[in-house]
Amino acid sequence: MAAFAPKTIVFCTFFLLLTTLSQSRAALDVHYYDKTCPQVEKIIFQTVYNASMHDPKVPARILRMFFHDCFIRGCDASLLLDSTPGNQAEKDGPPNISVRSFYVIEEAKAKLEAACPHTVSCADIIGIAARDVVTMSRGPYWNVLKGRKDGRVSRANETINLPAPTFNVSQLIQSFAKRGLGVTELVALSGGHTLGFSHCSSFQARLRNFSSVHDVDPTMDSEFALKLRKQCPKPNRDHSAGELLDSTSLL
Ligand SMILES: *[C@@H]1O[C@H](CO)[C@@H](O)[C@H](O)[C@H]1NC(C)=O
Ligand SMILES: *[C@@H]1O[C@H](CO)[C@@H](O)[C@H](O)[C@H]1NC(C)=O
Ligand SMILES: *[C@@H]1O[C@H](CO)[C@@H](O)[C@H](O)[C@H]1NC(C)=O
Ligand SMILES: *[C@@H]1O[C@H](CO)[C@@H](O)[C@H](O)[C@H]1NC(C)=O
Repeated sequence: MAAFAPKTIVFCTFFLLLTTLSQSRAALDVHYYDKTCPQVEKIIFQTVYNASMHDPKVPARILRMFFHDCFIRGCDASLLLDSTPGNQAEKDGPPNISVRSFYVIEEAKAKLEAACPHTVSCADIIGIAARDVVTMSRGPYWNVLKGRKDGRVSRANETINLPAPTFNVSQLIQSFAKRGLGVTELVALSGGHTLGFSHCSSFQARLRNFSSVHDVDPTMDSEFALKLRKQCPKPNRDHSAGELLDSTSLL
C-alpha cells in the first residue's frame, strides 16, 4: 500500500486542533468554502482526474475509501490516520486490503494547504473526491455538503462494523440501519460498489462446499457460479485472483 506521508497527517492534525478549538456543531453547507477557499473543488478535481488518468484503479479505490471511512465513526477522515505505538488505526484493520491510493488525497491536501492554508478538512476532500470519481466514471453528479471536521479517533477493531462480503440481505439491511441508512441507501451504495474488483476470498465460500447438501450456493446463477469457479481455482494460491464486480465496468 502506498505510504501515507506524515506531512499530510500533520496538516490534518493541525487543522483538527484549530477547528475543534473554535467550532460548535455547525450545519454542512455547499457554500462552506466559498469565501475561504473558492478553488477547493477545482483543485481536488484536477488532482483526482490526473491520478485516475495515470492509474485506472484510482476511482474505485477512492469510492471505497469514502465508504469505509464513513461507515466507521462517520465521514471524518479517520481512515487516513496512521497507527501509533499504542493504537492500531482503522487503516490497518483487516478490511484495509481494498482501501488504497491514499496518496491522491494527500496530494490534494498539499495543494489546498498551499492555496488556502488550514482551511479544508480531509473529510471534505474525501467527500468531494468520491463525488468526482463517480461523475468521472459516468455516474451522477451531486453537490457535496462541506464543513465536515476531521476525527482524531481511529481504531482497527471498529472495522468489524463494516458489512462483511458474506452478509445476506437481512444482515446487510441490519448493518446499514445501524448507521441510519435505509434500504434505498443500501441499494445505491451496493450499486456504487460495482465499480471495482473483488478478491476470491470475498465470495469463494459460495462456490465450493457451500453446505452439506449443495456444493454451490443454490441461489446463484449456475453458469455465473461456474465462471467464478474458473476465476478462483482451488487451492487458491494467487491472492490477487478475483473478478470485476461488474463485467461491463472498467476497474
Ligand atoms: C499527475 O499524476 C502523476 C501520477 O500520480 C504524478 O506523478 C504527477 O505529479 C501528477 N501531475 C499533476 C500536475 O498533478
Ligand atoms: C492491513 O493491516 C495489517 C495489520 O492489521 C497490515 O499488516 C497490512 O500490511 C495492511 N495491509 C495493507 C494493504 O496495508
Ligand atoms: C476497540 O478497542 C477499544 C480499546 O482499545 C475498546 O474500548 C472498544 O470497545 C473496542 N471496540 C470494538 C468494536 O471492539
Ligand atoms: C441471514 O443470515 C443470518 C445469520 O446467519 C440468518 O439468521 C438469517 O436467517 C439469514 N437470512 C436470510 C434471509 O437468509
